[in-house]
Amino acid sequence: MNAPRKPRFAALAERVAPEGTDPWVLHWEARQAAAAGKDVIVLSVGDPDLDTPGPVIDTAIARMRGGDTHYTETAGRPALRAAIAARHAARSGQSVTADNVIVLGGTQNGLFVASLCLAGPGDEVIALDPMYATYPATIKASGAQLVPVATPATRDFHPDLPAIEAAITPRTRAIFVATPNNPSGVVLTAEEVDGLVAIARRHELWLVSDEVYAGIADDGRVPSIGARYPERTLTVASLSKTHAMTGWRTGWIVGPVDFINRAHDLAQCMLYGLPGFVQEAAITALEMAEECEGRVREYCRHRRAVLFEGLAGIRGIRACWPQAGMFLLIDIRGTGLSGEQFVHQLYRAEGVSLLDGVPFGAAAQGFVRACFATDEAVLLEAAKRIRRFCESLT
Ligand SMILES: Cc1ncc(COP(=O)(O)O)c(C=O)c1O
Repeated sequence: MNAPRKPRFAALAERVAPEGTDPWVLHWEARQAAAAGKDVIVLSVGDPDLDTPGPVIDTAIARMRGGDTHYTETAGRPALRAAIAARHAARSGQSVTADNVIVLGGTQNGLFVASLCLAGPGDEVIALDPMYATYPATIKASGAQLVPVATPATRDFHPDLPAIEAAITPRTRAIFVATPNNPSGVVLTAEEVDGLVAIARRHELWLVSDEVYAGIADDGRVPSIGARYPERTLTVASLSKTHAMTGWRTGWIVGPVDFINRAHDLAQCMLYGLPGFVQEAAITALEMAEECEGRVREYCRHRRAVLFEGLAGIRGIRACWPQAGMFLLIDIRGTGLSGEQFVHQLYRAEGVSLLDGVPFGAAAQGFVRACFATDEAVLLEAAKRIRRFCESLT
């Protein structure tokens, strides 16, 4: 009898498979160990240890009990789309209405929809490196080629505009950026945004601006790409970080109406609308946006200082000050270890889980990423253990 043939999968399944060693393996091991009561500290993911605001939960429960458990409009309820438009307009100064908004399953889902609607096989998509670790698969899922352009450590991870323009070919369709960036915490300056928009305009490219952390940047805003280039910018965001609502999977794209119509067609065969009770809870969350964002912003600002100061003066490493977000990069090149060696050895020796920089792009080689959105005592203990580990290396 012939051996059963191996199952065959689509090329898409290959394109989204992680390259090299999966950086999340260590993270999940650490999460499991922590859940089992082991003495480990997990700083490898950006999920604040803050609760979803009570009124948001109350709305969800009341709506669920009230029977709001049926199909909903694919693009999102008009009231939620209008609330997102209003919040985006207030933050960015860009004039938008509910028609410019589609509600999706988190920023990640929004990035995926943007990728699939903008590019395909034979096309190229530029993303600034380092980039959030899901970007390569998200961009390659469309069949397009990812073209990373370094925002190098030598520029404090700020973009090199001539390098971006030099990477553009007739096949380029879009440029993906995140401001504030994960992992570097860099917020694009107004001049950088102007320069990026000028490039995109010259080459008729889409700009996809991941602003999932914008609400927790200083003053709750960042220089807006969408306000400067409304005709071809997609702003992607969610309630995940600003409202401590990562598990609610509530995000959106704000963009021109012709794009939103295309995204609607894709969402129709892919997501089919978020639950009504989640959407109503999201409206409550947006009504409380000032208060919610302020809470997470203050929390992150304080924790950032705690970890940064805790890591000061440790031989062989240097923490990079992030302008915003929940992460900081640590330059570990002085230890003589690679990022992968550093995170593995640190975890085995001290039970502290960080992420290697490489999965975020070649520009983050020699750096590791730590999330500081957690308890102050935990951060101080983590810094103590990192210090002990680094001292043990010499
Ligand atoms: C830059 C960036 N984009 C997108 C996401 C995904 O966010 P969401 O929970 O809204 O899908 C994250 C999550 O960490 C992120 O850091």
